[in-house]
Amino acid sequence: MKKPSLSSSINKRRTFAIISHPDAGKTTITENLLLFGGVVHQAGSVKARKTGHYAKSDWMPIEKKRGISVTSSVMQFDYGGKRINLLDTPGHQDFSEDTYRTLMAVDSAVMVIDSAKGIEAQTKKLFKICSMRGIPIFTFMNKIDRDTRDPMDLIGQLEDVLGIEAYPMNWPIGSGRILQGLYDRYNHRLTTYANKAKDRTYIPLGKNGDPIKPTPITKTGMYKEAKDSMQLINEAGNQFSEDKILHGKQTPVFFGSALKDFGVKTFLDGYLDFAPKPEPHEAMINSHKSEVIPTNPQFTGFVFKIQANLNPHHRDRIAFVRICSGKFVKGMTVTLQRTQRQMRLNNVTEFIANTRENINLAVAGDIIGLYDTGNLQIGDTIYTGKKDVKFPKLPQFTPELFARVSAKNVMKQKTFYKGIHQLVQEGAVQLFRDSSTHAYILGAVGDLQFQVFQFRMKNEYHSDINLQRMGHKTARWVDPKQINPRMSSSRNLLVKDQKGKPLFLFDNDFAMRWFQNKYPDVKLTSKL
Ligand code: G4P
Repeated sequence: MKKPSLSSSINKRRTFAIISHPDAGKTTITENLLLFGGVVHQAGSVKARKTGHYAKSDWMPIEKKRGISVTSSVMQFDYGGKRINLLDTPGHQDFSEDTYRTLMAVDSAVMVIDSAKGIEAQTKKLFKICSMRGIPIFTFMNKIDRDTRDPMDLIGQLEDVLGIEAYPMNWPIGSGRILQGLYDRYNHRLTTYANKAKDRTYIPLGKNGDPIKPTPITKTGMYKEAKDSMQLINEAGNQFSEDKILHGKQTPVFFGSALKDFGVKTFLDGYLDFAPKPEPHEAMINSHKSEVIPTNPQFTGFVFKIQANLNPHHRDRIAFVRICSGKFVKGMTVTLQRTQRQMRLNNVTEFIANTRENINLAVAGDIIGLYDTGNLQIGDTIYTGKKDVKFPKLPQFTPELFARVSAKNVMKQKTFYKGIHQLVQEGAVQLFRDSSTHAYILGAVGDLQFQVFQFRMKNEYHSDINLQRMGHKTARWVDPKQINPRMSSSRNLLVKDQKGKPLFLFDNDFAMRWFQNKYPDVKLTSKL
């Protein structure tokens, strides 16, 4: 058989993440998608979590314990002639930094919304990140097997709250106990709903917009309502624009129920009709602003995530790399841009749910996991060839919550330091040192990060820790030349970050203003 060319392999890649507010149904829809890709044999309903059969994307014990996705995982599967890389992201807002970095590694996003609740806080935040990048966003309005908000309101909300044009690809006929089906505008058909998938039917629509075969549904008021809505949208709604979709200015909207696996396949097929192949990435090439073209044979990629101990049975540390151009071949030598050192990539994995399989070949669009012994950092660029390539820095959030941390057992300092340094390198929390006592202080965006940190220190490093919460602080960096140790007080603690750069942790805005009045010449900056 002829080997596919590099560009045809790359053009088959579709790499995306699902964004949603917790409980909207991300895990359930992920399971369905994996099932279509033949990865899992039973779409273990999310309920299975409670009986011990966890979703394949939930790896870490703490995720299982709490029933939330803490870390992003990567799943790869084939469907409809495409190779799909699905990057899972934690839904909980305390892990938004992790999600943010993951969104830097995808070409499109799927937004899952609970149709009873509409757009929720976390969805709004994540949407903003995607829209800043201008990546295409596809919307799945979930849970139509329950009573939902008026579909017209849901569509209006996308436009009013998120400011994106919406283009409904289909429309629910009823919802909840009186759900009858979907009026499928995109595929010109009516899909009837029945509890069992085998009893559902697809009936093509005729010229008049009604199904060509009689079905009792058309006699219902719900059908008339759905058809009227579709007609109204046809006349007064947005024009379908593939160009707008590809620039993140219009979102195709699909209704359905992940739990009942209704409308999910329709969604996946529709998504694949428009989802973009790997896109060029901005980068500095030989110190000049330029673009990395995916089909360029020179291998380039960047690390967007580091995770230790994915598998508790093997002590390992994996750097997740998004390949931006060319192909990866096992054993290849790459340059690590930050240090200009050469690295041989021998030990690499790709991801299929919770089984990680060694791979020999991956191309632009794919995510690979590099076993790493501490050489790589989040945001690092690696490449082959003579041209020096550097992808933009991945943003770090300014932490808002702080806690002092120490080992409970002073005899076990070694494991304590090892755990802290590895987890900090992962970006799980940020680390600071009190500039006078040198005590360790952790910084986080949300408290759950501290809880996960404590849990992982105990479980993965056998290190019991004392965490003394310091509460909310306002972090401001300062020029080292402008400070003296006397400026530090209990209300504005002077600390150093991991790079040794000084910053103050102010108790509140009032303390910051007081400080600024006293030392008007000291310039405070919120980010590095
Ligand atoms: P998440 O990953 O976005 O947090 O959501 P997840 O898939 O875990 O789903 C959250 C809850 O919503 C689950 O209920 C799940 O069964 C339910 N759910 C997901 N999709 C649908 C849907 O299409 N229809 C209905 N009716 N329910 C759906 P759970 O585990 O029982 O939790 P809870 O509802 O008891 O809190």
